[in-house]
Amino acid sequence: MMNISTVAFLLVEIICILQKMRNDLCETINDVWFMDKITATVKKITTHTLRQMKAAGEKISMLTAYDYTMARLLDEAGVDVLLVGDSAANVMAGYETTLPITLDQMIYHAASVVRGVKRSLVIVDLPFGSYQEDARQALHSAVRIMKETGAHGIKLEGGEPVIEAVRRIVTSGIPVMGHLGLTPQSIYQFGTYAVRAAEEQEANRLLRDAHLLEEAGCFALVLEKIPAQLARKVTEELSIPVIGIGAGRYVDGQVLVVHDMLGMNASFKPRFLRQYARLQSIIQEAVRHYVADVKAEQFPDESEQY
Ligand code: KIV
Repeated sequence: MMNISTVAFLLVEIICILQKMRNDLCETINDVWFMDKITATVKKITTHTLRQMKAAGEKISMLTAYDYTMARLLDEAGVDVLLVGDSAANVMAGYETTLPITLDQMIYHAASVVRGVKRSLVIVDLPFGSYQEDARQALHSAVRIMKETGAHGIKLEGGEPVIEAVRRIVTSGIPVMGHLGLTPQSIYQFGTYAVRAAEEQEANRLLRDAHLLEEAGCFALVLEKIPAQLARKVTEELSIPVIGIGAGRYVDGQVLVVHDMLGMNASFKPRFLRQYARLQSIIQEAVRHYVADVKAEQFPDESEQY
């Protein structure tokens, strides 16, 4: 007859063995899963890596970043592309639209992000008013970004009207990412943040613009808030990677605004957004705790002073 402590000991042993078997199995699955991944073998993501990923059917992950600390965290967590988006105007500066942010402010954000990155590709938005005049102005702004930040490429919004600018920037050796669909710099022209290109005429224009951007030399294209089937058609017809936000699952990669996907603004919940954390409540809970400790003279204690 075994006594109760022997039974308990054997049970713990069995549980440990089962846990080890489970961990080994997970590692094997992980190895097999990552073995044929392009990103498992590269030290730095480049525009060439993104092309290889599209060809191999490996999805591209992209998030926005606007500062050094967040860029470091995202880079270490394995995000392929960091976009220094002009959405900084919204989430960092509190503006209602992306229009007010300046080229100098974008350069400040981008240089901070680049300092936090070892592996990710860093792409920077040309802000409103820094490229719409003509190709010369666009090139001047793009060159400033490349020289003053150390970023790896730029993104700009629009189709046919910006094609000359794209050509000029690309022929100077600067990688350009296009952006079609809901282009927030044109929000006053749209008058609404609703889904774009739901009608045939606008969908056809978007498809034509996507081809023009590819022909002009864009290395990738962002599609924002358009029907999934249209995004699928663009993705199938283009040889460059297509990255979607609110553009469904049939694209080559996904991008989200990092503050939104981390749930830092609990009340912002558009349909396309998945919140992977609830940072608003985590941060506020921690801060309430700190405030209470300070008021109650619970912080600092003996071990936290000199
Ligand atoms: O500025 C931005 O964050 C963007 C993404 C939404 C694609 O352009």
